Amino acid sequence: MRAIHIDDLNTGMVLGKNIYTADGRVLLRQGTTLSERYIRALKDLHYSHVYIRDPRVPDIEVNDVIPEELRQEAIQVIHKSFGDIQAQLNGATSGAIKPGFNTDAIASVSRDIVEAILNNKDVVIQLADLKSHDNYTFAHSVNSCVVGTVLGHRLGLPESKLRDLAMGLMLHDIGKTTIPLEILNKPGKLTELEFNRMKEHARAGFDILREIFTLSAHAKIVVLQHHERYDGTGYPKGLKGADIHLYGQVGAIADVYDAMTSDRSYRKRLLPHEAIEFLMGNGDRYFSLELVTTFVASIAPYPVGTIVKLSTGESAIVTEVDMSFATRPNVRVIADASGQDLATAGPTLELKKERAIAIIKVMAD
Ligand SMILES: [Fe+2]
Repeated sequence: MRAIHIDDLNTGMVLGKNIYTADGRVLLRQGTTLSERYIRALKDLHYSHVYIRDPRVPDIEVNDVIPEELRQEAIQVIHKSFGDIQAQLNGATSGAIKPGFNTDAIASVSRDIVEAILNNKDVVIQLADLKSHDNYTFAHSVNSCVVGTVLGHRLGLPESKLRDLAMGLMLHDIGKTTIPLEILNKPGKLTELEFNRMKEHARAGFDILREIFTLSAHAKIVVLQHHERYDGTGYPKGLKGADIHLYGQVGAIADVYDAMTSDRSYRKRLLPHEAIEFLMGNGDRYFSLELVTTFVASIAPYPVGTIVKLSTGESAIVTEVDMSFATRPNVRVIADASGQDLATAGPTLELKKERAIAIIKVMAD
């Protein structure tokens, strides 16, 4: 299974993962052979990448950190929460009584996400979450929750604290409900004025949740502080170093990692090894180096399904990752040094043993 750009899809290719509509229904099941009509439907849903099975290595599987059904359920729950808050804000301006915001559903999916992570031994983030532009904010909320909770788990937080953290991560951008759509959905660069307005979402989110007593103070801290930066250049308060709460720091790393590895209308996603490079390069600047180091220990720089160029000139596909040798996964050659595709992949090469061979490039579209 590997990710492929939507423009490179051909009829006859086989889907590697289920494709969902914005309201959480399965549009196309994994294993579906793509026809012209299906490819058009994927384009209409505004996906930029989807997973397909590679016929040369049909047996490799990539497991998500949490079950796919739970991810979809969480996306629907946060979507509804945004809608409820929006309705509340609209009602407030027309003088209606505030309906309040029920956190039960958020608490329930957050608990399930924490449980899935705790039950997953040696949890490694392998699968990039390929989002449709149509539900970016909600899919981003859920994936930030997953990767941030994995970090919290690595830091040794107990289950009850992980639940608070997960709820905060799910809700971290809830303040965006107060930002005008023309700023939120603007395809180009924001003006300084617009950017300053956008920055208000952290404080606005905290204000929305402040009076909700079913939500812990720790969850609210994530919402307030997820744009603070370790060197004091963040917002809303410009806090520095340890003055930023641990959960705020986890929120910042999770938010940035997921945003960087997602396609947006104005830029292409970074691949995991590039995002790791960025985070490590900014350890002790935007983030605490210690936290970043802990975080990247959970991320496969070359996830299963990645096509890489080897120092031998051959192209190979990653088939297994051992996180003790994260940069030297198992691979199988799929094209020779002249670029000629092999009909079937070669035998498994264990790069942790084949020290003379290195990955020199990631092939990506
Ligand atoms: Fe944010």
